[in-house]
Amino acid sequence: MITGLDHIAIAVPDLQLAIQRFMTDFGLQYEGTEDVEAAKTTTAFFPLPPTSIELVNPLQGEGPIAAFLEKRGGGIHHLCFRTDDIDADIARLKDKGYQFIGDEATPGAHGAKVIFIHPKSCDGVLVELSQPAAGDH
Ligand code: CO
Repeated sequence: MITGLDHIAIAVPDLQLAIQRFMTDFGLQYEGTEDVEAAKTTTAFFPLPPTSIELVNPLQGEGPIAAFLEKRGGGIHHLCFRTDDIDADIARLKDKGYQFIGDEATPGAHGAKVIFIHPKSCDGVLVELSQPAAGDH
């Protein structure tokens, strides 16, 4: 079941510049960066309860964020719903005809289990589902 808006992600071409913007100019709390090998991204999180802002930047210049930036430049990349049972939500939505990127959930930032619904299934919006690691939230 979807239980909240976990975060909104923004693809940024210059991670350090964007971190400075959100931390210094906007005054948000900066939680630090994390490399997510499975997604080939470096992420930076800014908790803004009850949600967060996630900046995403290519890890080693490769992967889907590199392709996104090349094609479209920086911009809103995805929104992420928190779920308390990601496998059940994947099965339920697959039954309704939703297309996913990948067959099953993979490791995301903060040890969460994540999967992306294809934008074709959501009016052009890339939607991530995330089940927080046990003990988180
Ligand atoms: Co995300």
